[in-house]
Amino acid sequence: MFEKSVYQLRRQKLKQQVGKGLILLLGNEESSMNYKDNLYHFRQDSSFLYFFGLDKPGLAGIIDIDNDREIVFGNELTLDEIVWMGPQPSLAEQAARAGITNVQPSSALISSLHATRTGKQDIHFLPPYRPENILKISTWLDIAPGGVREHSSVKLIRAVVAQRSIKSPEEIREIEQAVDTTAAMHLAAITGAKDGMTEAQLAGGLQGIAISGGGNLAFPTILTVNGQVLHNHYSNTIMREGQMVICDSGAENALHYAGDMTRTFPVGKKFTPLQKEMHDIVLASQEAAVKALKPGVLFRDVHFLASEILVEGLKAAGVMKGDPKDAVAAGAHTMVFQCGLGHMMGLDVHDMEDLGEQYVGYTDELKKGTEFGWKSLRLGRALEPGFVVTIEPGLYFIPELMDLRKSEKKYLDFINYDKLEAFRHFGGIRIEEDFLITETGSRLLGKPLAKSAADMEALRG
Ligand code: GLY
Ligand code: MN
Repeated sequence: MFEKSVYQLRRQKLKQQVGKGLILLLGNEESSMNYKDNLYHFRQDSSFLYFFGLDKPGLAGIIDIDNDREIVFGNELTLDEIVWMGPQPSLAEQAARAGITNVQPSSALISSLHATRTGKQDIHFLPPYRPENILKISTWLDIAPGGVREHSSVKLIRAVVAQRSIKSPEEIREIEQAVDTTAAMHLAAITGAKDGMTEAQLAGGLQGIAISGGGNLAFPTILTVNGQVLHNHYSNTIMREGQMVICDSGAENALHYAGDMTRTFPVGKKFTPLQKEMHDIVLASQEAAVKALKPGVLFRDVHFLASEILVEGLKAAGVMKGDPKDAVAAGAHTMVFQCGLGHMMGLDVHDMEDLGEQYVGYTDELKKGTEFGWKSLRLGRALEPGFVVTIEPGLYFIPELMDLRKSEKKYLDFINYDKLEAFRHFGGIRIEEDFLITETGSRLLGKPLAKSAADMEALRG
C-alpha cells in the first residue's frame, strides 16, 4: 500500500468533486473456477484499490459526503479461514493503514444504505462489471439487474476518471516497476523461442516472470505465430523457422499497476526481407506517433498520423496507392490496421475501461467513431501531463477481411488487391511501448528494450 495520506487525499478530492450524497464503492469477490473452493486468482476492483488500498475479497466502502463519514464493510476472518489460510492482520488494522477508522461487518451495509434511501440521499455507484456486484446493487437498491449499469452515477464516473487519469509520481514509480518486469518477460520470449517449440511452451514461462516480479500477469498473454489475429492468446501451435512471433504481454506489480508491451521477432535467426520491410514500416509508424505525443494533442490525431505512416510504407511497397491522408480519411488503412493506436494504462491495462470508454477516452464534444477501425480506438481526447498511454501500431493481414473488402470493391483507389494477395499468409506485426505524457512531450516508461528488426535479430542470433 501507499502511505495512508495518499488514500485520504484521494477520497478528499473525490468528495469535493462529487459534492453531495453517498459514494458506494464495491470491492470484488472471490470467483470459483470449477467448484466453490477452487478459485481463480483474486483481483481487486481497481477503483476500490485506488481509494481504499485494501486488497482482499468481500469488502465495500462508503464515503458519505453529507455526513462526513467513511466506512469499510467486511468481515474479520473466521476460525475456519484462519485454519486454512493462516492468520492475517485484522480488517480494522488493514483499514487503518488507508486512514479508515470506521470498520463494520458486511451485514451492516444494508441498513446503512436503507437509512440513506429513506433519507433520500443520492447514492453514487460505478457501473459494476461482475455479476455478483450487479446482483448486490440490484438487491440493495431495488433495481432490476438489467438496469443497474444505467443507474450508475455519471458524476462519480467523471470524478473517478478525472483523478485516475493523472498519474502521481508514486504511481509512475509503480508503473515503471511493472514495465521493467514486462520487459524481462519480453526478453525471455525473444531469446527463448525455438523452431519446433509450441506457442504455449514459450508463453508459459512469462507468467512465472510476472509472478516473480511480485504481482502477476496484467492480462492474458498474447503470443502467437498467427499475429494477424489481434488477440490470439497462444495454443499448441508449433512455431517454425520462417514465421514471426508476436508477443503482447505484461505484468502488473504488487500494487497492481500494469505494464503492456509488444515485440515481433523471427522464430529463426533472421526476418525474411519482406518481414523486415514490414517491421520497419511499423517501427516508423510507432516512432512518429511517439514523437507527436505532447499535452494538448488529440490522441485521435496521433492515431491518424500513425495510420498515414503505415499507408506511406505500404505505398512504397506497392500494396497501397494514392495520397496517404486521403486513404486514411477514407478508412482504407483499416484493411491492415483494424484497431486503435493505444489506450490509457494504470491500475488496469486498459485503464478504467469498466467506467466507459466515452468518459475515459473521449469528451462531450469528441465522440468515439462507430465505423470499423475507429470504433476500436479507445482514446481520442487531448493528452494531458500525467496521462500514461500505450503506443502500439501494427500491420495485420487478415485473409477473411481481404476477401470481403475485395468482393465489396472497397478502397479500389487506395489498395492494389493483386499485390495484397502476396500477404495472405504473412501474419501480423505489432510494436508497443508505454509512455508518460510530460509537460513538454513524453517519456518512455521502464528501461528501453530492443525494438528494431536489427535489435531483434541480434537477440535471436
Ligand atoms: N495488450 C493487449 C491490449 O492492449 O489490448
Ligand atoms: Mn496494449
